[in-house]
Amino acid sequence: MRSTFSVLASVALLAEVVSAAPKYSGPPKYSGHTGYEPQVPELDYYISLGPRPFYIVENMTDSPLKTKLKSCENGPFKITDFSIGHRGGATLQIPEESVENAMAGARFGAGILECDTSLTADKGLVCRHSLCDLHTTTNILLNPTLAAKCAVPFTPANATSPANAVCCTTDITVAEYLTLCAKMDGFNASATNVEDYQHGIPTWRTELYDTCAKVQTLESYIDLIDSLPGYRNFTPELKSGADDPVTAQYAKYPPGYTQEDYARQFVNTFIKKGIDPQRVWMQSFNPPDVFLWLKEFPAFGRQAVYLDESGDTPENYTTAVARLPSIKAKGVNIIAPPFNYLLMQAGPDNQSIVPAPYATAAKAAGLDIIAWTFERSGPLAQVKASDDYYYSSIADAVHTDGQFYEVLDILVHQIGIKAIFSDWSATVTYYANCFGLEGPKSADYQKPPGKGYGWGW
Ligand SMILES: *[C@@H]1O[C@H](CO)[C@@H](O)[C@H](O)[C@H]1NC(C)=O
Ligand SMILES: *[C@@H]1O[C@H](CO)[C@@H](O)[C@H](O)[C@H]1NC(C)=O
Ligand SMILES: *[C@@H]1O[C@H](CO)[C@@H](O)[C@H](O)[C@H]1NC(C)=O
Ligand SMILES: *[C@@H]1O[C@H](CO)[C@@H](O)[C@H](O)[C@H]1NC(C)=O
Ligand SMILES: *[C@@H]1O[C@H](CO)[C@@H](O)[C@H](O)[C@H]1NC(C)=O
Repeated sequence: MRSTFSVLASVALLAEVVSAAPKYSGPPKYSGHTGYEPQVPELDYYISLGPRPFYIVENMTDSPLKTKLKSCENGPFKITDFSIGHRGGATLQIPEESVENAMAGARFGAGILECDTSLTADKGLVCRHSLCDLHTTTNILLNPTLAAKCAVPFTPANATSPANAVCCTTDITVAEYLTLCAKMDGFNASATNVEDYQHGIPTWRTELYDTCAKVQTLESYIDLIDSLPGYRNFTPELKSGADDPVTAQYAKYPPGYTQEDYARQFVNTFIKKGIDPQRVWMQSFNPPDVFLWLKEFPAFGRQAVYLDESGDTPENYTTAVARLPSIKAKGVNIIAPPFNYLLMQAGPDNQSIVPAPYATAAKAAGLDIIAWTFERSGPLAQVKASDDYYYSSIADAVHTDGQFYEVLDILVHQIGIKAIFSDWSATVTYYANCFGLEGPKSADYQKPPGKGYGWGW
């Protein structure tokens, strides 16, 4: 019974995958990465969403949106660039930036997968969300030799101080980095020893996959994504101290190596591997990086993603909204704020969710919007009590998990976001397939005739 079912299901899915892979018709795109090649290149690879999207739909209150989403429960589901894998695509449960996380995000149908790029002592580029998070995202403290190199060595908790450590990618070499295991991001502030320090994640995540997940370099990430069946795209982010005070304080770039060198090496890694710029959505919180790419690497720069988190207080929000036209005027085409900037609560007792001024202003300025980060917040019943960042602007209006899709629907159908990063890409892939969303199109950012500065031509 079981094997009969899976054979039938496989045939049905195979037919779907064949019909659903319109973008890529060349030879199999393997570039030597071992271990993940399917038996039948191109075809033997199924999008698999798991139970979560169905759980969310079931929890929605009755509405036309629920009816529509329910009507899609039998698929077909295909890879979509609307669904961007955040730090991989399954960060809700699998160690961020790891091979296993990227593989899960790919399985969830994310068309674009992220590698946050950090710098090592020997100018290597590696996938870490921060230059100085090795103490919470890897097992570095369990290796005494490498732990001794940490910018701030481990100190145990005592009656007056929490446990502490700061370990940066710039403290070690690429070869040393590759000996580490990726683990779920977290630490135990009460730890009196390094073993206990490894834990301390939110209860709604899991350590189920903390079994030495494989760390990646930017190059091995490119090879992995390029080797995946189906057509996948890249969204690397250049990390720096711009959005990260710990990195600003503790990361030490190699002598003579500048931020500009780093921004160029980042792009050149893709160029050397022969990756078409149209497949690469480079991101940075550091505006000079984006402007350097626009000027020196226009094919990458014109579809670069300008990350913005400059509006976290009411006064700064007003400033962030007001400066959007000037960002566009400098040649930027895509703005990427956290989705709390795009939404606000309204109506009796604040129970409605409506587009916020940032969304209106970004559209008026001619900027496309990519939002972050979906499903990073835990159960919606808890977001208000936990003072969650992403729901901070709509905290009164969210109560249950069915609202995940109500929030996403407002972002899509009232604001028109081009894509969204998610910690569990299956949820976004389901929605995107139901509404036929294909994500950002590189062709929309090609050089228009007669444009001057900013396009870099
Ligand atoms: C959604 O889940 C919550 C529990 O988080 C429950 O109270 C509510 O009744 C559910 N709604 C529906 C429509 O199933
Ligand atoms: C507690 O730890 C802090 C930081 O490591 C240290 O400065 C302090 O001396 C310690 N206090 C005691 C009582 O050991
Ligand atoms: C945190 O560390 C303390 C002290 O080392 C230990 O007693 C406790 O069990 C740890 N908690 C977790 C969740 O590991
Ligand atoms: C608000 O903006 C000012 C000026 O750019 C900055 O110094 C400050 O840190 C910002 N506040 C927050 C909370 O982001
Ligand atoms: C509605 O939310 C706003 C902030 O978004 C708050 O200032 C106001 O007090 C809230 N109103 C009610 C009735 O809770």
